[in-house]
Amino acid sequence: GRVLSVASECVPLVKTGGLADVVGALTGALKRVGWDMRVLIPAYRPIRALAADWPEVWYESGLWGGEGRVRMGQVDGVTMLLLDAPHLFDRDGGPYSGPGGDWWDNAQRFAALSWVAVRIARAGLDGWKPDILHAHDWQAGFAPAYLAYGGKGDVRSVITIHNIAFQGWAAAHQLADLRLPADQFHPDGLEYYGALSSLKAGLVTADRITTVSPTYAQELMRPEFGMGLQGVIASRAADVQGILNGVDTDIWDPSGEADPYSTNDMAGKARARAALCAEFGLDVPGPLAIVVSRLTDQKGIDLLSQAIPDFVRAGGGLLVLGSGDPGLEAAMRGLQSHFTGRVAVRIGYDEGLSHRMFAGGDAVLVPSRFEPCGLTQMYGLRYGTIPVVSLVGGLADTVIHASPAALARGVATGIQFHPTDVLSLGQALRQLVTLHADPMAWEQLTRNAMAQPVGWEASAAAYAAMYEDLAP
Ligand code: ADP
Ligand code: GLC
Repeated sequence: GRVLSVASECVPLVKTGGLADVVGALTGALKRVGWDMRVLIPAYRPIRALAADWPEVWYESGLWGGEGRVRMGQVDGVTMLLLDAPHLFDRDGGPYSGPGGDWWDNAQRFAALSWVAVRIARAGLDGWKPDILHAHDWQAGFAPAYLAYGGKGDVRSVITIHNIAFQGWAAAHQLADLRLPADQFHPDGLEYYGALSSLKAGLVTADRITTVSPTYAQELMRPEFGMGLQGVIASRAADVQGILNGVDTDIWDPSGEADPYSTNDMAGKARARAALCAEFGLDVPGPLAIVVSRLTDQKGIDLLSQAIPDFVRAGGGLLVLGSGDPGLEAAMRGLQSHFTGRVAVRIGYDEGLSHRMFAGGDAVLVPSRFEPCGLTQMYGLRYGTIPVVSLVGGLADTVIHASPAALARGVATGIQFHPTDVLSLGQALRQLVTLHADPMAWEQLTRNAMAQPVGWEASAAAYAAMYEDLAP
């Protein structure tokens, strides 16, 4: 079968978070189970030049104040469709925001992406006609809506929620401009607290709803996690499915790092740790914990300021790589200057360093308040870098907690804590110190972690089964 995937990010072209990793990797994983997926994303300024000499496969004259052209090319084995609409996407800044904050016309920008996706899905591209239109997050939320309101024909739609916190708000008076039918502006349709939400539009019109872990699928139906959309999702419970993300095990592979290692020979990991400590001037007798993350409230980064001092006194160390909220960046710098030699912080985005950190770290901390799936705890498993995670969303689904029973049976792969607060995190860090000091227990834990499958095989099969079931 064939799938047109519509998203705002895809590795290696544009990435602000895990969405990009997943949109890219899913495509390759589906190919291995016989599904042919193409990915449509906007041609933002930094990737426009790349597509300049790709063939134009689609033209759209009236796209919210300008023209749009879709160019098709291959990137790392994935067929990419780039929507080149300079008046919407050729700008200095990020995919969603510029120097002054969110782009003022985000509703139109991503409506345009969704509009073109549906037009291509209906007409096909030179005989390539998708069975399924797969929309990701709020940026593609209008796609299932345009498809449903204009007549589905022989195309079915799926929307995947990667993060419910971003809902694509627009004012009610934009309804007509966004090419949405006025008679659908009611609570069971497009209306959302008196306004519009592109995510809700997708949730009420898509044939299926998926999210990126089974636990998050359940959480989303409850007010603590649904962020206003719990009722909408609960009302569609029969069509909601949680499919865990995988990680790209070719890219995330301890035997491919500068100091290669595997379960049978962990010497490379010890060398990687020493190199990392030297690079950052760290001297850590106990466990070296790492954090590779957006620095935001979602990720529970604020908890570190209060939990890390005790951890450091107990022998632990911390290395943080991330950027985001200026207050949290400052808090992390504060920890660094307080605990020189034990805590180091690099503000920024750095793939290479993140690899060195997973290779050299002893544990990875993910104290999220909510986490639809999370990828870094899975990198941690693969690298024998023990995940210490809160018990939410995909973090609950991917780690086997080192309870006395799990330790006795030798099946534990990490440490989970609940609730997401300073006290529980502190307790988890004390357990980390204890386990790390017990060579037998630690070896067992790292072995188990590294043996846990984190690739895409199972998930790709689950997506394929859903598409099979849905395809007309
Ligand atoms: P989210 O999408 O909510 O940010 P995920 O865990 O799903 O969380 O994905 C985050 C992705 O971004 C991972 O691939 C992670 O390694 C990467 N990442 C986050 N911050 C950085 C950083 N500062 N440097 C390098 N990679 C980062
Ligand atoms: C979102 C979520 C994250 C998830 C990623 C990919 O950014 O915050 O938990 O792993 O999407 O699905």
